[in-house]
Amino acid sequence: MKRIQSKIKDSLECIKNHIGFLPEVEVGLILGSGLGEMADEIENKVSVPYDKIKGFLKPTIEGHKGNLVFGKLESRNVCIMQGRFHYYEGNKIEDIVYPLYVMKELGATNLIVTNAAGGINMSFEPGDLVIIDDCINFAFKNPPVDFSMKPVVFKDEDWINRIDRRFKDLKKGTYIFVTGPSYETPSEIRAFRKLGADMVGMSTVPEIIVAGYLGLKVLGISCITNMAAGILSQPLSHEEVIEVSRKVKEKFKELIKVAISEV
Ligand code: HPA
Repeated sequence: MKRIQSKIKDSLECIKNHIGFLPEVEVGLILGSGLGEMADEIENKVSVPYDKIKGFLKPTIEGHKGNLVFGKLESRNVCIMQGRFHYYEGNKIEDIVYPLYVMKELGATNLIVTNAAGGINMSFEPGDLVIIDDCINFAFKNPPVDFSMKPVVFKDEDWINRIDRRFKDLKKGTYIFVTGPSYETPSEIRAFRKLGADMVGMSTVPEIIVAGYLGLKVLGISCITNMAAGILSQPLSHEEVIEVSRKVKEKFKELIKVAISEV
């Protein structure tokens, strides 16, 4: 704990040195593949490249910029991770979730985590925005936090209910986290459906676990960018993921704004 405290102090020092002050944060946002444009909407924007912040990794994947962006959205102080770190990039799970400790130290009380996911539930279609109702950790990698055997808090029910009342056609589902980076086989997807998964992706669960541990109220949103392997005849591609997230971005931005205003 002592070690992480001094690491957080160093990261805050870097942020302060880069923008000249230490920003206050109410809501943290982690934006998934192709969804990073939300950061363009914020007012009084100041941005710090990850490579200027000690302790932060550097994203290597197309569709993930590497900036920590501060400013106002829906009159709230936000901190956006424009681009995230993945386990499949060869990162350690504790380094992937590290920025959450920094957000918490800056005052964050709420976290919105978004991702691109493959639809397993046959009633989903590409372009759907799905609230993460529960998770399955099929990567079997947990961030090393001391829960003293407490259960993980995956969501804030009241926050979700308030959003539900304002945003039409919101679907809900269970997200299964796999390590990737290869997409799944059709048999894996059939097995995941039997396990109770509605969508599959390669992120989010480590961040949600740590956010819950830090006492942040969590909202997870999956953007269904493709139907998972074996459901449709054409093969999956990362380009398809980026293309669908591009098409759905206006609806996505609207949902994020509703979520922030309902914090
Ligand atoms: N599988 C895993 N991760 C994903 C997918 C998928 O089909 N689509 C977007 N991220």
